[in-house]
Amino acid sequence: MESTAASKPKSEYLVPRISQFKIALCQLLVTTDKDTNLNCARNMLEEAADKGAKLLILPEMWVCPYSHEYYAKCAEELDKEESSQAFSMLSKVASSRKITIVGGSIPVRKNCKIYNTCCVFGPDGKLRAKHSKLHLFDYYEPGASFKESDSFTAGDTPTIVDTDVGRIGIGICHDIRFPELAMLYRAKGADLIIYPGAFNMSTGKMLWELETKARAIDNQVFVAVCSPCRDSAGSYTIWGHSMIVGPSGETKGRAEHEENIVIAEIDYAENQLQRELFPMLNQHKEDLYKLLDTE
Ligand SMILES: *[C@@H]1O[C@H](CO)[C@@H](O)[C@H](O)[C@H]1NC(C)=O
Repeated sequence: MESTAASKPKSEYLVPRISQFKIALCQLLVTTDKDTNLNCARNMLEEAADKGAKLLILPEMWVCPYSHEYYAKCAEELDKEESSQAFSMLSKVASSRKITIVGGSIPVRKNCKIYNTCCVFGPDGKLRAKHSKLHLFDYYEPGASFKESDSFTAGDTPTIVDTDVGRIGIGICHDIRFPELAMLYRAKGADLIIYPGAFNMSTGKMLWELETKARAIDNQVFVAVCSPCRDSAGSYTIWGHSMIVGPSGETKGRAEHEENIVIAEIDYAENQLQRELFPMLNQHKEDLYKLLDTE
């Protein structure tokens, strides 16, 4: 039976959590060599952990360039040790530094299909959640079409995960352009929504910051977006500008287009405060419109 998301009871929080901590966005340079990318990511994660960050985020597609010809070659099969180097590196860094990692996204092969997938690891190194991009980026411009669905199979479930650093909703890149997904995460009690992404130069300039702020203010939650840096390899030129935005739309930290680690303070009390100052959920007109949770 369908129900409105807001009317569903919120499940209890099952892991002890901290609500004030440092978050780090690793805006790394992606090359055509997977080993180089793995080393670069490991170094950046360790550097961010050494600076005190408890939640580390990688960008969309960081093991290979965001270009069709690399996906099959770099794809990992998560249940096979010999073909899951990125997966095991993330797990090891998470457990050795006792931190939570939202591992950007990598191509993942399952039953001969390839998905654009984000893996979340807890401080014990265990996989906590896996999100495959729901909305593939296809557009139809005369002479300049782009179809991510030629390369990837879309995921089919929203992902919200309880971690030691809050209840986190996950989306990947184009998923940010569907406000209903973020609304669903908010209705299910998300403290923070994270989108590893790689916008191009024109939508990057026009929409990247706007979409990030819109998802944050509509839902009164923290929102983080993490991109590879501009000079990454491949035919697709990436905007960069990884950023973290608070529940009233204020920028907490932001990169330009170069390689960089953005570190910012998160305090979930700000979500609560913003929701008290401006109780939008109580102002909803459920008799006029409703969010459906079909799960
Ligand atoms: C970026 O993507 C948009 C579609 O969202 C497209 O219209 C535009 O031409 C692309 N820009 C570049 C520089 O590839």
